[in-house]
This record gives sequence, structure tokens and C-alpha cells, in this order.
Amino acid sequence: MSVIDKGLAGVIVGETAISTVGKAGAGLTYRGYSIEDLARDATFEEVAYLLVYGKLPNVSELNAYQERLARLRVLPPSVCQMLESLPMSTHPMDVLRTGASMLGSLEPEGDEGRGAAYVADRLMASMTSMLGYWHRFAHRKQRVDTQTDEVGLAAHFLRLITDAEPREAARKTLDTILVLYAEHEYNASTFTARVVTSTLADTYSAVVAAIGALRGPLHGGANEAAMDLISSFETPQEAEKSIHHMLDARRLIMGFGHRVYKNGDPRSDIVKELARGLALESGNNAYFDISVRIEEVMMREKGLHPNLDFFSATAYHLCGVPTVMFTPLFAVSRTAGWVAHVIEQRDDNRLIRPNADYNGPQARELVKLHDR
Ligand SMILES: CC(C)(COP(=O)(O)OP(=O)(O)OC[C@H]1O[C@@H](n2cnc3c(N)ncnc32)[C@H](O)[C@@H]1OP(=O)(O)O)[C@@H](O)C(=O)NCCC(=O)NCCS
Repeated sequence: MSVIDKGLAGVIVGETAISTVGKAGAGLTYRGYSIEDLARDATFEEVAYLLVYGKLPNVSELNAYQERLARLRVLPPSVCQMLESLPMSTHPMDVLRTGASMLGSLEPEGDEGRGAAYVADRLMASMTSMLGYWHRFAHRKQRVDTQTDEVGLAAHFLRLITDAEPREAARKTLDTILVLYAEHEYNASTFTARVVTSTLADTYSAVVAAIGALRGPLHGGANEAAMDLISSFETPQEAEKSIHHMLDARRLIMGFGHRVYKNGDPRSDIVKELARGLALESGNNAYFDISVRIEEVMMREKGLHPNLDFFSATAYHLCGVPTVMFTPLFAVSRTAGWVAHVIEQRDDNRLIRPNADYNGPQARELVKLHDR
């Protein structure tokens, strides 16, 4: 009798030099650097460079990289036309999945010397623009110039979405959230990207498939579901009462629990402080207080810690980011991690193809169509 590892929990299916997740003594690291140090001292562009190119950039490398990403923000006219044809009700994750796929046919990997790193940079920069372009066209019928003067993808995104100078606190918070989301070992979407890559498919296909895997509420979609929950309450007391009812009904509270971090997600402490800072700065602490109360109830009743998606929902909201953009921003940031894994998978590839135990009908005779 073979042993079935449903959900592959705890099963080691490969090696990686990109990140450690919850390893004793190491915590979360990207290429050996702790997430606490990176969140405090590095921008998202430095982290993206670290993941995709394998080392932290020096000043001149970072300047050149920022200029490159700024050039790659500009969308081809046909992509703008496609974005204009999408319904207003489209979820922006579908906008990204469609836009990334279209770029893959306009600028295929392999043509004109484009490799996986080009695809990573092009997708991170242009997916940020796609979100802004689609949002402004769908909601205000405006055709925005996707080449802003903002340095950094966080500021570029905020400028496009809000059509205003980004507040420094919001820009800094969003940049740090992008750092926190950039990489996380063999999570569902990254594993998806590695499976696609193992068939020798191109990087765009791996990223498009990963976007699909990220969309669900058990993975990236949890931050939007967490915001819907938090914003459904007026007071911490109301939240407490309702969470008790939900737990009694055995409902999942999105943004809590984690497959690997059973004693707390190190990213959650960082993003919680960012959310606290924004709440203080804005004088708007209603959602932060509600979030803290939900955290207390979940710990008391279930012993469950928040994961990154819970307090990042509150922080995003206080940055002025619309809820439907939470998971798409996760996708923009995680593209750096996904492509780092594409490159690593290619370096030592073997087709990923597990087996299943069959539990269907016994062998039986086929009755021809007209005799059934
Ligand atoms: C992330 C997640 C899928 C991990 O799942 P997992 O490792 O398979 O853990 P399990 O589903 O086995 O959970 C163990 C127990 O805790 C409960 N639990 C886990 N997360 C819970 C949550 N968010 N709310 C309520 N109960 C939860 C499960 O119901 C289960 O209870 P049981 O033993 O009585 O059946 C799970 O915690 C979850 O669904 N969380 C909500 C979605 C989320 O925030 N996703 C983002 C992840 S970064």
C-alpha cells in the first residue's frame, strides 16, 4: 500500500538556493539575507535584482536597473487596446493573466536575445502599468500615459491608480510589502511555475500559469478575502462576536494559518507594524483596531497566527489601494520569485510528473455508442 501525501504537506520535492522558509535558525531568507534586514534596508527593485540576477546590485547597477524597469513600463498599443476591451467587471488578476499572455506572443522569449530575466523585468514593469491603465480606463474612461516619472514600481503604481502624487508613507509601505511578497520557496504558484518550466515551456507560460494558481483564496486571494471580512465590521466588538460565530460554523478565517509557519509568519509582524504606522499617520485606526481584535480572537480560540495576507490587507487599504488590486500586486512582486525559480529549474531540470493511486471503476467492457 503506497502512502499518499495529500497536498504534498512536508514532502520535499526539490532543492533551492533562492529562499529558506521557516527553517530552524534561518527563518525567511532570500539568497541568505533575512527578510527583516531586506524589509528594513532594501527597496523592491534591489530585491527583484537579487532574486532574478542572483546578487544585490551596487549603486550604479541599481540605477541602471531602475532605468531599465522604467523603460519597460510602456505598454505596446495593442495591449492598451486589449485592456480597453475588457469588461469593467473583470477581476484585475484576469487582466494580468491575459496581459502577460499577450506580451508573450508580442515579445516571445528567445526572440531578439530575450531570456528569462528580460521576461521577469518586462512583466514586473508592464503588469504594474496594465493594472493602472485598465483601472483608469475601466473606471474613468481615461487613457493614461504609462510612462510616469516615479522612481520605483510602488510609486508608479500609486501614481497611476490614484492620479496624484503618492504620499511618502504609502509609497514606502507599498514598497516594503512588495519586498515581503517577492519570494517564498515552493508555494503553490511557484511550484506551478516550476512544473510548467520542467516541460521546457517558456517563461511567459510559467508566469501565466502561476498567476492562475495565485488567484485562489487559499493562496494569494486571501488578502482580498481578509479585507472583505475586516471591512464588514464597524467595531472590534462586532468583529469578535462574528468571528466566534464563524468559527462555530467551522468557517475558514482568511489570512490565518499557514502550511509551513505553525508558530507565526515572520512577515506578519513586519506588515502589522507598517499598518499600525499608517493608522497612526492617518488618524484612521478603525480597521487596524478591528484587525488586532480578530488576531486576538484567532489566537485565543484556535491558536492560529495571522499570515502575511492578514495585516497586509489593512496596510494596503490605508495606502489607498483598492481591494481588488491586493492579489495583483502580490503577482507583480512574486514575478521576481517565480522567474528566479524558472531559471533555477532550468539549471538542473527533470520533468516533474508524480503518480496517483487509482480509485476508479474496475476494468469493464465498452458498450458502443448506439447500444448505450
Ligand atoms: C493556509 C492554509 C491553507 C494551510 O492549510 P493546512 O496546512 O493544510 O492546514 P489545515 O487546513 O490542515 O488546518 C489545520 C486546522 O486548522 C484549521 N484552520 C486552518 N486555517 C484556518 C483558518 N484560516 N480559519 C479557521 N480554521 C483554520 C483547519 O480547519 C484545521 O482544523 P481541523 O484540524 O479541526 O480540521 C489554511 O490555514 C487556510 O486555509 N488558511 C486560510 C487561507 C489563507 O489565509 N491563505 C493564505 C496562506 S499564506
